[in-house]
Amino acid sequence: MRLTVIGTGYLGATHAACMAELGHEVLGVDVDPDKVAALQAGRVPFHEPVLPELLARHTASGRLRFTTSYEEAAAFGEVHFLCVGTPQRKDSEGADLRYVDSAFASMARYAAEGALLVGKSTVPVGTAQRLADTHTGVEIAWNPEFLREGFAVEDTLRPDRLVLGIGSERAETLLRAVYAPVIGAGTPVVTADFPTAELVKTAANAFLATKISFINAMAEVCEATGGDVSVLAEAIGHDDRIGKKFLRAGVGFGGGCLPKDIRAFAHRADELGVSLAFLREVDAINMRRRDRVVELARELCGGGVLGARIAVLGAAFKPDSDDIRDSPALNVAARLRLDGADVTVYDPEAMDNARKAFPLLGYALSAEDALRGADLVLHLTEWPQFRELAPERARTLVSRPRIVDGRGTLDGATWAAAGWEFRALGRPAPGGEG
Ligand code: UDX
Repeated sequence: MRLTVIGTGYLGATHAACMAELGHEVLGVDVDPDKVAALQAGRVPFHEPVLPELLARHTASGRLRFTTSYEEAAAFGEVHFLCVGTPQRKDSEGADLRYVDSAFASMARYAAEGALLVGKSTVPVGTAQRLADTHTGVEIAWNPEFLREGFAVEDTLRPDRLVLGIGSERAETLLRAVYAPVIGAGTPVVTADFPTAELVKTAANAFLATKISFINAMAEVCEATGGDVSVLAEAIGHDDRIGKKFLRAGVGFGGGCLPKDIRAFAHRADELGVSLAFLREVDAINMRRRDRVVELARELCGGGVLGARIAVLGAAFKPDSDDIRDSPALNVAARLRLDGADVTVYDPEAMDNARKAFPLLGYALSAEDALRGADLVLHLTEWPQFRELAPERARTLVSRPRIVDGRGTLDGATWAAAGWEFRALGRPAPGGEG
């Protein structure tokens, strides 16, 4: 089939390359000529495993192309996927729909009568119906995307489920044809009306955020009582109804999705006269974890961080990503810098992005380099290479062997045995009081 993908950010670039991988002819559209030129040359402008190979292969074969022209896109495809961003508004918690509205308006203007415009962006419930009422010459469908950064290709080619929000049998037939190889491989398909399809996405993200904040709230209780949240999480996770995943306590969630999506969902619920106030508590618990790391840093530095040399391991909001949007690690680093600490950050992939956004922080060339002369080490993004740091060797680099594990992935006993003062969120200090 001939497909277009409008918006070539994280979601769109991945979707375009994966649709080409499924065997379709794909044209990607973006208003940013630099992005189009980079993608057309086979270059992915962000870090995502596997995606560069797919993009290079399919741009080279000509099956995947990019353009800045909506007119060209409208003439090219029979199904148009709209993958533009829905950031948080500057003036409220709500979602900013200007990119969605303008992309649909542009495509509706040029597309053939009856063309299928498929929204993939995360939107407030009610958006698809509003667009369908506005653009009557085209057909609208909603097909939310659940991909995780770092696993974007895998999640697109082998998703847990496909959700097709459709208004007609024809839309369903076309979407089933697009995804035929994915469906053929056994992926469950859920067909739904527009509001349900939109809600599946916001509800899934709200649930995941709630799960993380739940375990982080339990970490707070553990801190108050001397309990160990990692043991607690393992034990409750044995119950299949709860499950082990997404119960890792730490400095909390960040990124371009969960924080803004729960705020937009609570905001939309208010508009609808339904209370999702608990999501505001989920957000507040998440933010309190960052406060806790700052507080621990002050405590470990003897009451204040003024003049202290602090090494921050991690800048991306999670490993396998160079995305620093709403990164807990950088938020903590910036706050300590404001308090007068001399902060040095190291991240395996996110250094360029971090440097641009936080030019006042110091940056090191390696984890060891960051540790050199540090009075305190904060482990805030759980890259596997940080777990492999040798505590004995690390101890020879720092000025004072004190570390806070903000992600719960370091082995506290080994660090303590190597002479480190080791603190973790929601866990007692090894061999001592928490
Ligand atoms: C998320 C959803 O998982 C995905 O389905 C949706 O499409 C987009 O939003 P992503 O933002 O890529 O994906 O990150 P995810 O892997 O979900 O992690 C989100 C944040 O939660 C990260 O900051 C991560 O470090 C944190 N996290 C995750 C925890 O603190 N504890 C956990 O147990 C799991």
